[in-house]
Amino acid sequence: MKKLLVLPGDGIGPEIVAEAMKVIDHLRTAAGLELEIEEGLVGGAAYEAAGTPLPDATLDRAKAADAILLGAVGGPRWEPLEIALRPEKGLLGLRAGLGLFANLRPAILYPQLAEASSLRPEVVAGLDIMIVRELTGGIYFGQPRGVRELENGEREGFNTLVYSESEIRRIARVAFDIAAKRAGRVCSVDKANVLECTELWREVVTAEAAGRPDIELSHMYVDNAAMQLVRAPKQFDVIVTTNMFGDILSDEAAMLTGSIGMLPSASLNEQGQGMYEPIHGSAPDIAGQNIANPLATILSVAMMLRFSLDRGDLADAIETAVGRVLDQGLRTADIIQDGKQQVGTAEMGDAVVAELN
Ligand code: NAD
Ligand code: IPM
Ligand code: MN
Repeated sequence: MKKLLVLPGDGIGPEIVAEAMKVIDHLRTAAGLELEIEEGLVGGAAYEAAGTPLPDATLDRAKAADAILLGAVGGPRWEPLEIALRPEKGLLGLRAGLGLFANLRPAILYPQLAEASSLRPEVVAGLDIMIVRELTGGIYFGQPRGVRELENGEREGFNTLVYSESEIRRIARVAFDIAAKRAGRVCSVDKANVLECTELWREVVTAEAAGRPDIELSHMYVDNAAMQLVRAPKQFDVIVTTNMFGDILSDEAAMLTGSIGMLPSASLNEQGQGMYEPIHGSAPDIAGQNIANPLATILSVAMMLRFSLDRGDLADAIETAVGRVLDQGLRTADIIQDGKQQVGTAEMGDAVVAELN
């Protein structure tokens, strides 16, 4: 039987994961989904219980799981801690420890939410972009890093942007394989006009595309890409980019779909193991109020069913159910529009489950 490790985390994490678990529990009882489920600690919750954001037990159980469902980590309570003990380090440790180098962040607009986007409906209608973000390299993990004292007595902070050819090659391949099943267009986003590391990125991605006549590759500097995403987002099919650029561009792309509360993600390693999480954070400003949008987490469960649990049929069912709930006019606060009915986190989860029946 496949194993799922559930890591609710901090802030709204436990609230949104509870709604995703309603969906999973429903599929276990009503659709024959067989799953062994464990729950674990990560982030601030783990720090409070065990003094570290990523206890060995959590990493070991994550390695032994077929799939991991994560809520979100972090919050103001842990900001005074040194970086090594912060909740975010727990998440980064999971990504690195499991080698989850390929982060897929689909920005798909549900047609019902065209008016909820901050852009004009005609700019976003039909939007379907896949952002492929490199997740275990780049400036997030490069050495050396730190803060050092200079001879003149002031301090200097430094991080290192570094990518090896093999790291670039494998993420390019993931992007090409995904694009081959879509419109076949890949836009590689870099800053090759300034940074040597991304000059190499462009060179390696280009070389890798030479063997792929099915792929139409283009390149764009990240500043232009940020602008193009809000000017004419439908020009993109698949975007492949570095860890940090992908982090930023995916939050931007989320707003095209109406809310950051709508974007799921999958993080995959070379063995096909996956971690699934919404792209948003722990939203401390709305935690504990039953107002967070659980749909990004529920849609992450759909990605998990498709990529790790071999149940694409159930993934389709979840995505259809989310569409039907939006058809009913139910909206959490982040996607509310005139004439629609505002519901809380738990009510939204219940509504998705009801539509699965
Ligand atoms: P955030 O994504 O948590 O929140 C940004 C804004 O979006 C807030 O106004 C929040 O209320 C809103 N928002 C986010 N998710 C929402 C949802 N599901 N429904 C409705 N509104 C939602 O980003 P932030 O405020 O910059 O970071 C807060 C904490 O989360 C920090 O500690 C940060 O490090 C952490 N973080 C964690 C992850 C993760 O666990 N994957 C991702 C991003 C940020
Ligand atoms: C994300 C988050 C994380 C990142 C943080 C919390 C480490 O912003 O998953 O997008 O920067 O990757
Ligand atoms: Mn982010």
